[in-house]
Amino acid sequence: MSADDEKMAAARASLRFVQDGDIVGLGSGSTASYAIKFLAERVQEGLNIRGIPTSAKTAALAESLGIPLTTLDKFQEINVDIDGADEVDTHLNLIKGGGGALLREKVIASASRKFVIVADSSKQVSVLGKFPLPVEVIPFAQALVTKKISALGAAVKTRQLKDGTPYVTDEGHHILDCSFGEIPDPARLAHALQNIPGVAGHGLFVDMASVALIAKGNQVLELNRDPPTA
Ligand code: A5P
Repeated sequence: MSADDEKMAAARASLRFVQDGDIVGLGSGSTASYAIKFLAERVQEGLNIRGIPTSAKTAALAESLGIPLTTLDKFQEINVDIDGADEVDTHLNLIKGGGGALLREKVIASASRKFVIVADSSKQVSVLGKFPLPVEVIPFAQALVTKKISALGAAVKTRQLKDGTPYVTDEGHHILDCSFGEIPDPARLAHALQNIPGVAGHGLFVDMASVALIAKGNQVLELNRDPPTA
């Protein structure tokens, strides 16, 4: 099975978490886009849901497929959020933001009762960190934030478009792709990054995912997050 087939299989499996009447967080990236396409088929068949998109690109896709959209201004509680990931570890901690939508993705995930990750098998890792960690920065503070993140031990690259200009997020920020190597304690790094003024958000999603659907060959594994320790 190709990575694309696995993405489709995981995306299809996620629909079992969506019920009639739900407010649904719509993720960004290729795997989430498959989920949105399958969801749109159900909407055509009569499923009544409203979606809250995690990016302008996802909003355009969902709209073009006829999924009714709503906003966080109207609903601050989301029933289920379906999104992809760049890496998923054994505790369901994640690296996200390869597609640049990490900030809105985290906001939507934080408002969701159930946060469902859909991914192909290449995303499953034992320790996070091979994929460079995206950090979203306010352009004004970019040089300072770069220096501070380098001091934490990362090789930092500003994400650029093909023409060499910085990639700009939906919120008007830039992205630093930060190679830390293995991240043995994601919660600690998340805390350190969040404490740097000028960081608007980062792609470490710690203790947020409820379930990960990872497609491997012909199977879709359902991994549930460890119960919180007392
Ligand atoms: C978007 O910003 C990301 O968080 C994506 O969810 C992530 O990059 C996974 O993308 P794919 O499903 O395209 O691999």
